[in-house]
Amino acid sequence: MSLASAPGDEPAYPVALQHLVEGYLEALDFGVDPRARRLVEAMRYSLLAGGKRIRPVLALATARSRGAHPEAVLPAAAALELVHTYSLIHDDLPAIDDDTLRRGRPTCHVAFGEDIAILAGDGLFAEAFSLLLVTQQGSAEARLATAAEVARATGVRGMVGGQYMDVVGRAFDDDDLRALHALKTGRLIEAAVVCGAVLTGAAAAELAPYRGFAVELGLLFQIVDDILDETGDEEELGKSVGKDRAQAKVTYVSRYGLEEARRLARESHARARARLSALPGDTDELAMVTDYMLRRRA
Ligand code: IPE
Ligand code: IPE
Ligand code: MG
Ligand code: MG
Ligand code: MG
Repeated sequence: MSLASAPGDEPAYPVALQHLVEGYLEALDFGVDPRARRLVEAMRYSLLAGGKRIRPVLALATARSRGAHPEAVLPAAAALELVHTYSLIHDDLPAIDDDTLRRGRPTCHVAFGEDIAILAGDGLFAEAFSLLLVTQQGSAEARLATAAEVARATGVRGMVGGQYMDVVGRAFDDDDLRALHALKTGRLIEAAVVCGAVLTGAAAAELAPYRGFAVELGLLFQIVDDILDETGDEEELGKSVGKDRAQAKVTYVSRYGLEEARRLARESHARARARLSALPGDTDELAMVTDYMLRRRA
């Protein structure tokens, strides 16, 4: 069961933005060279298997809060989903989490083999930068800033650094665990909000409240991911449950217990909501995503 909602009570989500992302991803052309056919198949297999599209939806919702058309930032938003999907493919590999189910399907390496899965992840990562630097429209300055943001968010001081701390179990105290979550999940969520703001004209000096909000949102997201690994439903989640416990991962649940993890999630949600109120514009969709993050069951 979810943190706060009754069974059957679906938390609201900006589905129109999600559909916009879905359509754009579906139409992406990774090339038609028949010699690379199976690689492209593997990339599309993982990319188009569903998924909540939280990172691109956040980029679009941020753009809209600033009075822009969400379509204007679609390539960058899609790039975030490509990066995220790459991270999932590699996260599921036998050498990392060794998972066999993702987005309701056999994981990429189960379906295509480890060699092709590794390359599919690499391919998605590189194609993401092509979307950011070539396809995305806007000033050269803004496009460069978003590409730099995504590069930093995925590197050693971002997602990959966090994944490293996760695989080696480097979370000795509360601070370490918070840092691990902030890096492996939070940093890309922060980049999503920042990209939406930068591409719609936000200057560097205006970004602090966006970052403050998104950092909290990222923490909330991963605390709930840890809770769902313990309490979620495999069918609803589309991925296996109980893996963190089986692999003795350091998570919010293993460190604090379920009840305290739920309380920390509610606290994090309240902080995210408070920080959201510091953002300009119409932030209704961002508020909806924030509430969804606490109440989601998948
Ligand atoms: C799962 O991400 C991996 C984490 C970073 C916790 P999501 O829960 O966003 O997965 P999809 O994209 O909806 O499949
Ligand atoms: C993965 O975290 C975060 C990534 C950077 C992919 P998890 O290992 O907890 O994600 P799930 O639970 O497998 O989706
Ligand atoms: Mg993992
Ligand atoms: Mg995993
Ligand atoms: Mg998890």
